[in-house]
Amino acid sequence: MKISIIGTGYVGLVSGVCLAAKGHKVICVDKKTDIVTRINNKEATIYEPGLDPILKQVVSNGNLTAVDNLRYAVMCSDVSIIAVGTPFGNGKIDLSYIIGCANEIGQILRDKNSYHVVCVKSTVAPTTTDTVVKSILETASGKSIGQFGLAMNPEFLREGKAVEDFMSPDRIVIGAYDDRSFNVINKIYKSKFKAPIIRVNLRTAEMIKYTSNALLASLISYSNEIASICEETGGIDVKEVLESVTLDKRFNPKKGAKLVNPEMIKYLRAGCGFGGSCFPKDVKALISFSESKGYTPDLLHATIDINETQPLRLVRRLEASLGSLQDKKIAVLGLAFKPDTDDMRESPSLIIIKELLLKKAKVFAADPIAIENANKALASDASELSFCADYKQALQDADAAVLVTSWPEFASISRDEFVDLMKNPVILDGRRVYDKSIMEEAGINYIGVGLEDVREVMCNE
Ligand code: UGA
Repeated sequence: MKISIIGTGYVGLVSGVCLAAKGHKVICVDKKTDIVTRINNKEATIYEPGLDPILKQVVSNGNLTAVDNLRYAVMCSDVSIIAVGTPFGNGKIDLSYIIGCANEIGQILRDKNSYHVVCVKSTVAPTTTDTVVKSILETASGKSIGQFGLAMNPEFLREGKAVEDFMSPDRIVIGAYDDRSFNVINKIYKSKFKAPIIRVNLRTAEMIKYTSNALLASLISYSNEIASICEETGGIDVKEVLESVTLDKRFNPKKGAKLVNPEMIKYLRAGCGFGGSCFPKDVKALISFSESKGYTPDLLHATIDINETQPLRLVRRLEASLGSLQDKKIAVLGLAFKPDTDDMRESPSLIIIKELLLKKAKVFAADPIAIENANKALASDASELSFCADYKQALQDADAAVLVTSWPEFASISRDEFVDLMKNPVILDGRRVYDKSIMEEAGINYIGVGLEDVREVMCNE
């Protein structure tokens, strides 16, 4: 099938490369000519493990080309997939890229005689495709829906695992305006991917995407709320609590003698809070959408509030241990919002670092790949912030270390390294990757999310 994909960001490029690898003829469209040139030169414009070799292969075999000419791409394809950004700003989702894109496609469809399906892949609030996008396409094309097709096909890709997720999806959701639209989109996936294809209407497809992200985000905030209760009580380790809870076979069934350990239970862990380009934005967008319909979603509000407070709680606990943070040297281990990505968007490290700097600490931060992006994100906070080549440099003579992102190289730092490199080591384990008793044996003052030593609490009671 001939497919044009508009927008070569994270979703657009991964989708384009993977669909081309499945044998479709894909034209990626981007207004930025430098991006178009780089893709045609077989260079991935985003960091995503596994993307590079497939991109090289599909550009070389002619299955994928990039252009800056939308008219050419729409005219030469049967389907246009809209994968432009939907940023969140001023309390609601910003549809300007979607609107602009639908308008341009509509005008091109005015001149196109053959049947064409427009498929929204960008994450948009329920009703966007069947109201806003449909009406723009009809007005701009001068045609009625039915003369062209309309679909909504959300993506469920995780950064760092996007290629794997695209190639081996759990389900493919196709929201379709009518049978004809569905049949075209179905043809893209059917027989090429081993996953159930779920056919729904347009607004249900949009809601499935939001509900999926809001559920995962809420599990994280739920875990962090339980962690805070454990910390305030003392003598209860949230890790033991949640690990035990998730042994319930309804969360973690057995296959033979072994536990399945579904990915989902990893979201039931306490930590620094969620970040990235999706969870914070999508939960806020769902709140805003819900309120526009007259319903106040209290649980989603709490999910966001807990998430915004969590990094500040960590800094407060550090302060409780060290006293004033002024002029203290604090090593921050990990900047990206999660391992295997250089993405700094909404990373809890940003809140933690800003708070530490506000309290006049000297911050030394390390991350295997996110330094460049962190530098851009924190440029204005810079004077007492240094980026380090590696964790050893960050830990050197530090008063405390805060583990924010559980990169394997940070999780495997030994207690001896902490002791040798730091002054009187205080470790704030924001991801619960270190063993408290092993650290304490070496004289390290260990503070873990969701864990407060009962002795300290009882002394204060
Ligand atoms: C998320 C969803 O997981 C994808 O299904 C969805 O397609 C994507 O958003 C999107 O809407 O585009 P992503 O933002 O890449 O993907 O991140 P996740 O790996 O789910 O991580 C999100 C947050 O959850 C991070 O802050 C991460 O630290 C946290 N997390 C992740 C955990 O706390 N535990 C985990 O096991 C995994």
